[in-house]
This record gives sequence, structure tokens and C-alpha cells, in this order.
Amino acid sequence: MENSEFRVTLGNKVKEINGILEKYLPVEEGRQKTVIEAMNYSVRAGGKRLRPMLIWETFLLCGGREEERELVEPFQAAIEMIHTYSLVHDDLPAMDNDEYRRGRKTTWSVYGEAMGILAGDGLLNYAFETAAKSFGRCPSQEHLSRAAAAFAALSRKAGIYGMIGGQTADIEAEGQFAPITGEQMLFIHEHKTAALIQAAMTVGAILAGAGKEQIDALEKCGYNVGIAFQIQDDILDVTGDSAELGKPVGSDAQNGKQTYVTWKGLEQARKDVAALSDEAVRILDGFTDGHGFLKELILALIHRTK
Ligand code: IPE
Ligand code: IPE
Ligand code: MG
Ligand code: MG
Ligand code: MG
Repeated sequence: MENSEFRVTLGNKVKEINGILEKYLPVEEGRQKTVIEAMNYSVRAGGKRLRPMLIWETFLLCGGREEERELVEPFQAAIEMIHTYSLVHDDLPAMDNDEYRRGRKTTWSVYGEAMGILAGDGLLNYAFETAAKSFGRCPSQEHLSRAAAAFAALSRKAGIYGMIGGQTADIEAEGQFAPITGEQMLFIHEHKTAALIQAAMTVGAILAGAGKEQIDALEKCGYNVGIAFQIQDDILDVTGDSAELGKPVGSDAQNGKQTYVTWKGLEQARKDVAALSDEAVRILDGFTDGHGFLKELILALIHRTK
């Protein structure tokens, strides 16, 4: 795919996902209006929509059909709600204390800290309420078992054995005097970031009815994409442009965080992003076909500037 053609396709896919999100966002009304506004504020601020995109692309990769879209969409909306909640909480004063996200003031700095906490809680819970909408749409017992397995995979990777576990290790390592160990660094990156990317890639496969071998391969692929993605995030925190990123640069240094860049240096970090992404693409090459866009997407992430 030509680079410009890829960019156009990517833009269209992001628009499509934004349309899906709009269908599932809660209506801003009732006594709980403020928290719902704060939830929608953060989701509507935008973002790359990588995780819902990965769900759809891996669904197609594993033979999922367009007609089954209605079973997949609730999961696409759900994962973006979970990801967005993780950002809303990550930005709180008690965590990374950031005031700029997705090109806007962060949720807590607009709505106050208490509402920031509640908006995150709201998004997390509403995510599962949303994913559960898939159950009622399943045309067969087989589809229902797939949806249940996808629900279980998503919950695990978002929780203490996934993203929350990684954020815990990240916070505990903050200001740590001893140099971070490789094992510690990879635990943090695998859990805080790769876990949700693995969830995206395996949820798509599970919903399409993929076998264990394919699901395991996508779990490995997601590990590589996820670690590369967080290394690049660490790189951009040093070399990026805040206006383009839509979030501050230098946040990690300000919080006394040891990152992949402080651990291995910029040059090695860049090389590792490329190597991990190549490995991810090599795993995809084991699939028959129909993954042109997915491959381009993973390779494009190597050079992302936002
Ligand atoms: C930012 O995620 C937090 C990390 C896990 C590195 P993204 O870079 O996917 O953020 P958005 O969704 O595009 O805003
Ligand atoms: C956060 O990592 C990963 C999450 C689970 C939210 P960072 O703290 O580096 O993410 P940014 O740089 O604030 O987006
Ligand atoms: Mg953080
Ligand atoms: Mg942060
Ligand atoms: Mg970061």
C-alpha cells in the first residue's frame, strides 16, 4: 500500500470508529449528568483509536464477516472506554499529574479531581456494560461462547493481571534510587501497555472463532506491538512535540520515572522498537492473507510522532 493510500485508509477507519463510539456513549442527562459529561469529554477528545482498530482488523484476519459487525462493535467501544479511563486516571495529580491530553486540558483539570476519579470509574464500568450488549445479539450458542471468552480476555488484560498491574509497578518504581532492572522494565511495559493491545488483538480473533494456535500467535504479536508502542511513547516523551502529541513532553523526567530511554538510551530504544515491530509482522506473515492494512499499521507505529 502506498503511504498516502495508507494514510487515507487509516483516516477513514478512525472516522468509522468515532461513529461507533458515538452510538455507545451514554446520554448526558439526569442527576449524574456531570460525570457523564466528563466521561464523554475524554472519549470525544480523540486519540488514535488503535485498540478498537486492532479488534476489527484481527477479527477480519481470522475470518470474521462484515455481517457480524454488531457483535464486535460493543467490544470496540468498550476497549476504547477502558483505555480512555486508564488515561484519565493516569493523568490525575496522584499519578502522573498531567494537565494536557489529546490536545485538550485533562479531565481532572476541567472537572476537578473528584469528578476525574469518578469519570474514570464510570468509563471502566460502562465499558463492561457496553461489551455485554454483544451477548443479546448472538445468533447461536457458538457465538455466545465466543462473546463470553472475549469478555473474559478483556477483563483479565484490563485488570490486576494486566493494565492495572502494570500501572501499580510503574508507580512503585517512581523515584526508585536503584537503577531499574530489565525484568522490572519489561514487566511494567508488558502490563501497563501491551496487555490492552494483546486484549484487542485476541478479542478480535476470539469473536471470529479463531483456534487456539491463532489466538496464541496474536497474543505474541500483541506483546511485541505493545512493548514497541510503549518504548516509542517513552521516546516521544523526550523527543516529541507537545502540540503534535497532544500531551506534555518531559512528563516522565518530571515524575522521576526511569523509562526504556533512561534504561537503554535513545538509539537502542529506537532499534528495539523496529526489531519488535518486525517480529510482530513476521508473526502476522504466518497467517494466510488479508492483513495488508494491519501490517502497514504496525510498521507505521515505528515512526509515529504522536
Ligand atoms: C497512550 O496511549 C498511553 C499509552 C499506553 C502509551 P495512546 O498513545 O494510544 O493514546 P491515544 O489513545 O492515541 O490518545
Ligand atoms: C501510561 O503510560 C499507560 C497507561 C496504562 C495509561 P504513560 O504514563 O507513559 O502514558 P502517557 O505518556 O501519559 O500517555
Ligand atoms: Mg503513567
Ligand atoms: Mg502518563
Ligand atoms: Mg508516556
